Amino acid sequence: MLIDFRSDTVTRPTPAMKKSMLEAKLGDDVFGEDPTVNALQHKMSKMFGFDDALFCPSGTMTNQIAIKCHTQPGDEVICDERSHIYQYEGGGIAMNSGCSVKLLEGDLGRLHSSMIEHAVNDKSDVHKAYSSLVSLENTCNRGGGACYDFSGFAAIKKVCIQHDLKLHLDGARLFNAIIAKRENPKAYGKIFDSISICLSKGLGAPVGSVLLGDKKLIDKARRIRKVFGGGMRQAGILAVAGIYALENHVKRLATDHEHAKALADILKSKSFVGEIYPVETNIIIFEIAGKYKSAKNFTHSLEKKDILMIPMSPTFVRMVTHLDISEKMIQKTIKEIKKL
Ligand SMILES: Cc1ncc(COP(=O)(O)O)c(C=O)c1O
Repeated sequence: MLIDFRSDTVTRPTPAMKKSMLEAKLGDDVFGEDPTVNALQHKMSKMFGFDDALFCPSGTMTNQIAIKCHTQPGDEVICDERSHIYQYEGGGIAMNSGCSVKLLEGDLGRLHSSMIEHAVNDKSDVHKAYSSLVSLENTCNRGGGACYDFSGFAAIKKVCIQHDLKLHLDGARLFNAIIAKRENPKAYGKIFDSISICLSKGLGAPVGSVLLGDKKLIDKARRIRKVFGGGMRQAGILAVAGIYALENHVKRLATDHEHAKALADILKSKSFVGEIYPVETNIIIFEIAGKYKSAKNFTHSLEKKDILMIPMSPTFVRMVTHLDISEKMIQKTIKEIKKL
């Protein structure tokens, strides 16, 4: 039994999800004629209180399209130093949008409104790049799945309005935050100018992310998606997996969060574990101190027992719980960690 905690992207479609894929009604989505893609876009835009939505192949693409929509070449994007858009999108902010980045040191990936207030450049100073976009992440991947308190968003939005900044949310794991914090998705539509949500992480769909925004933004985003090569044809065969996931795999995220807490509890009891980031959702990031010396040594020793994890840095390891991790797998992992 292989137990794969490397990421929640490793989930495979369930038999019921595959059945829905075989039965999906299809059309050409570049012509706007795929009824299933249209249904997914409609469902998600209504759920979050937006006018419209756009189905794309990946979360990287929805983030990059949003950044391009909100900026002009030469502008500056404000984000946390740990954010996915900066760390893991191949320098796409510079390559696709010609923008520079102002990196802030938040609390486990979360920014405070006062930090943004100080980071905005004076628009009348010709020496400075034009600050045009703030991008937040919820949950924060490199922050161990940390979630914002919703009041923080309202304060940030206020700063954005004062300084004429657009506000984007990388919500790759937004449903994890919504479940953990018992939030109403519609509240997000009142704050953000755009949101990217992944269907292919904890929700268990094989492919796909959705960008949410107003009609003007999504019309522009559809054009940019085509330019980026992301216009897909009978994409309903993928979109239907997203619809299935939204209907069947959202509430169960609470189980992933419980599993993550159980793993964190056992790790805390081990002398070779140093710091553990607070576990709020499905990600556990912890430091290897004592006898294993490095994150790689530790992950290699677990690999021999068919338990996979990711070294995040020379000394930190990440584990992610998800749909394909059963209670039995959690119990086996706890047993193996206890023996170490
Ligand atoms: C926070 C965050 N944003 C965006 C992405 C990008 O998603 P994709 O792998 O679909 O490009 C990821 C992927 O892990 C992520 O963790």
